[in-house]
Amino acid sequence: MKLELHIWRQKGPKDKGRFVTYNVDGIDTHMAFLEVLDVLNEGLIARGEEPVAFEHDCREGICGSCGMVINGIAHGPRRGTTVCQLHMRFFADGDVIYIEPWRAKAFPIIKDLVVDRSAFDRIVQAGGFISARTGSAPEANSIPVGKEVADLAMDAAECIGCGACVAACPNGSAVLFVGAKITHLGLLPQGQPERYARAQAMVEAMEHEPFGACSSHRECEAVCPKRISIAAIARLNRDFVKGSATHSEHATGKLEETAPA
Ligand code: SF4
Ligand code: FES
Repeated sequence: MKLELHIWRQKGPKDKGRFVTYNVDGIDTHMAFLEVLDVLNEGLIARGEEPVAFEHDCREGICGSCGMVINGIAHGPRRGTTVCQLHMRFFADGDVIYIEPWRAKAFPIIKDLVVDRSAFDRIVQAGGFISARTGSAPEANSIPVGKEVADLAMDAAECIGCGACVAACPNGSAVLFVGAKITHLGLLPQGQPERYARAQAMVEAMEHEPFGACSSHRECEAVCPKRISIAAIARLNRDFVKGSATHSEHATGKLEETAPA
């Protein structure tokens, strides 16, 4: 296959950036999309030119480090697929492909296709964990978890923190990502003690970052490579509201013990 690639090149955060056109040849249909960039970079290095910077690690759809906008779609044209798992058989010989970094205020461009997603790390640091002592694996396994709840929690736990949801959202909102974390931890028994405080802390951390608000466009759900449902956003909102109520009851001395819902 021959391809005409238009790739966003930007030397650093302050550089204006521009599209540069590259023609690549000898692309096999079995190659993954990142391998096309590898082929391109080998050629650029051989010619003494600067290779295209892009992020990757596992190349099997689990680490969340890869991510770019391909022909206007975060992670490219295949639903439920990360860029590293996107194979060239889904493209045609002679295709013209535009490749850009995530475009979101909260993810400033570092170089070329690499963006700074540390805003996600700061949200997770605020509450995306369980501090209850759950013992070793056999003890944890002795806590019964209903199949339906376990499945919902595991579906949410599939979120790989890639940031496509933010990049696709017209508002640059992070609520699908935060909703996935809240759902994954808040549904399991081990996550109950901090459930509502977690929602409060993570939303507060999210609001300290330049993410926008959700206005239900559902672009996030459409591009999520792990097909996280916007039901996660509803769970986030419920836990956040309940956390707010608990907080004000604390403040007015009216707190009563409530069983987790
Ligand atoms: S919710 Fe989906 S798109 Fe957003 S960070 Fe998680 S895996 Fe990526
Ligand atoms: S490189 Fe790990 S998910 Fe793509």
